[in-house]
Amino acid sequence: MGGASLIDVRSDTLTRPTSAMRQAMADAEVGDDVYGEDPTAVALEAEVAAVTRKEAALFVPTGTMGNQLAIACQTRPGDEVIVGAEAHVAWNESGAAAALSGVQFVVAGSGGFFTADEMLSAIKPGTYCDPHTSLVVLENTHNRSGGQVWPQADVCAVVAAARERGLAAHLDGARLWNASVASGVPVAELAAPFDTVSVCFSKGLGAPAGSALCGTRATVERARRLRKMWGGGMRQVGILAAGARYALMHHRDRLALDHANAKAFAAALRGVAGVRVDEDLVVTNIVNVWLSASLPAAEVVSAARALGLAIDAKGPFRLRAVMHLDVSATAAIDAATRLSLAVAEVAGRGVRQAESGAS
Ligand SMILES: Cc1ncc(COP(=O)(O)O)c(C=O)c1O
Repeated sequence: MGGASLIDVRSDTLTRPTSAMRQAMADAEVGDDVYGEDPTAVALEAEVAAVTRKEAALFVPTGTMGNQLAIACQTRPGDEVIVGAEAHVAWNESGAAAALSGVQFVVAGSGGFFTADEMLSAIKPGTYCDPHTSLVVLENTHNRSGGQVWPQADVCAVVAAARERGLAAHLDGARLWNASVASGVPVAELAAPFDTVSVCFSKGLGAPAGSALCGTRATVERARRLRKMWGGGMRQVGILAAGARYALMHHRDRLALDHANAKAFAAALRGVAGVRVDEDLVVTNIVNVWLSASLPAAEVVSAARALGLAIDAKGPFRLRAVMHLDVSATAAIDAATRLSLAVAEVAGRGVRQAESGAS
């Protein structure tokens, strides 16, 4: 594989803007968005509010800020927030909910998904010494579970039960676009049960940066004030908003290609010794690859890198591959070939070590 160009499947955040997107960004009309005078940011916010069918939307630098604003706007310090196992807000947002909103997380269910009953049993009775539970957060698609999509009937049941108990509901929809393409359910319908929804333009949609928090006008205005307080009030941000608008218009339908590439990558690993992929669970652009106990993920990652494949370890024996705009159908198959070679290389080392130990 010497000289073969690198295939990078570590994340769909790695995409670089296409030349058409760069052109749209260069041409963007801009103004000072803290004054509310950036026409491109204002247009993007109106478009995202329309797509998610919420009253208003706020452009924010990151998905993390979108989620954290949603938590801050719908809780009080000391409250509990119910999340699924391995939720991004709990694993990958640097403890922000504790630091910025003073809330604590309670995990419901396992594998990222949970039922209404599992959510209800995570709510403390509410005596004077119990924390108050004010919010439930769902993630769709669910990143760490391998990009799986919440069945919408289950979402509706969980949110309906949350409402009965007086909880607000937030959707971490960093990859809601993928969930919509995979399920055929419009984004607005997937977002409908929730008070707030965050969506990202910088993942599969391929924009260089940016997310949005969508909700009622009142919540979004409160979030706008907090965004400024947290240092996220950006000035001529229309340059970034233009990338997001371009992504929204041109890169949503093509997510189906990433999903097909993920399936092809998974299928190409079939029969590789020491590797297991649950192909039925590959429904969007993320593939979890499980390795046998003789194949430490860190070793496979470095062997793969030497063969021109960048892939992430997500556990001692788990890899994650993510398909995106910069991975073609051919590259997806090449990625599987390079991974198989890396696995064979690490397995061979193990055999050689065992033999030298025995002799
Ligand atoms: C499910 C999910 N939510 C939120 C985020 C946070 O996005 P950002 O990296 O823009 O803060 C990510 C990032 O990958 C994610 O996968």
